[in-house]
Amino acid sequence: MKAKSTMKFAMFAAGACGLVFTGVQAEEEAKAGIDIRRYPANTPRIEKDEALKLKGNWRTGQKYYAAYCEPCHLSSGAGNRDGSIAQLAGQHQTVLIKQLADIRSGVRYNPTMYPFARKLPGPQAVADVAAYVGTLCFPLDSGKYQGADAARQVAEGKQLYEYKCAKCHQPSGEGSKDALYPVLAGQHYKYLLRQMTEVRDGKRNDVPGEMFEAIKSYDDAQLVAVAAYQASLKTPRSLMCRTPTDKARM
Ligand code: HEC
Ligand code: HEC
Repeated sequence: MKAKSTMKFAMFAAGACGLVFTGVQAEEEAKAGIDIRRYPANTPRIEKDEALKLKGNWRTGQKYYAAYCEPCHLSSGAGNRDGSIAQLAGQHQTVLIKQLADIRSGVRYNPTMYPFARKLPGPQAVADVAAYVGTLCFPLDSGKYQGADAARQVAEGKQLYEYKCAKCHQPSGEGSKDALYPVLAGQHYKYLLRQMTEVRDGKRNDVPGEMFEAIKSYDDAQLVAVAAYQASLKTPRSLMCRTPTDKARM
């Protein structure tokens, strides 16, 4: 039921973009070498591109955050350790912008958050709220894999991760700000597991074709192992908490 409506929605969104952007999209896809046409990772998105160019004002962003985001993502930006709500603090601002634009346009299906995300008036507000989240400290108590076999899962997950995932998400799990690869280190285990399951099962299709290709043959046990490993990665030094002085300079 949920799967069906997700697909319908994604197809509608992809279709609507297709009408307007077919030419540019085809050109972009040819450039990127993407052969999976239903994966709209590189579909031009006006809001994302505009917001990425703007300088966010974190003070304005703070007001939006308190009004529309804090009820779920919390004042710390930690989300929920049970993985139901993503951790935002510590994520690259570029990634936050892209995800917000995707959720606002329906390319990434998130019915719980959609009405709140739509309240932001436009690209400047998207940049502002991302700038504010960028001032939050990386929480250090994210949800981890809890089983008694954690050591084995993490070891197996490490092999999988280093083989096909680390080239984009980096061995440290810090991703890339410029390439828009999300930080995975320090994210909640169950959130990671759900995202990867949805990608594998074709329910979240805003990821690059190359990632889909890497993950599509994983069975449930392999997804558990790779999620356990990602969640075990330590907060990368480069993403450690900003000091109040850094904040004042922003
Ligand atoms: C009603 C609860 C709710 C509200 C309010 C909400 N979110 Fe979310 N948000 C979620 C959930 C749930 C997810 C994870 C969805 C999933 O599992 O795919 C999420 C995911 C995200 C993501 C993607 C994270 C990632 O790593 O890809 C971003 C970015 C985000 N939210 C930003 C915001 C911002 C900014 C606001 C305020 C404008 C906001 N959210 C308001 C529930 C909410
Ligand atoms: C070609 C580069 C690339 C490769 C290879 C890749 N990913 Fe990704 N991954 C991405 C990008 C880009 C996103 C964000 C997609 C988007 O923009 O919505 C992402 C998203 C994710 C997410 C969701 C993060 C979040 O915050 O919602 C997880 C988890 C993930 N990747 C795990 C993996 C795993 C496991 C592998 C290896 C099997 C892998 N990725 C391989 C680029 C890559």
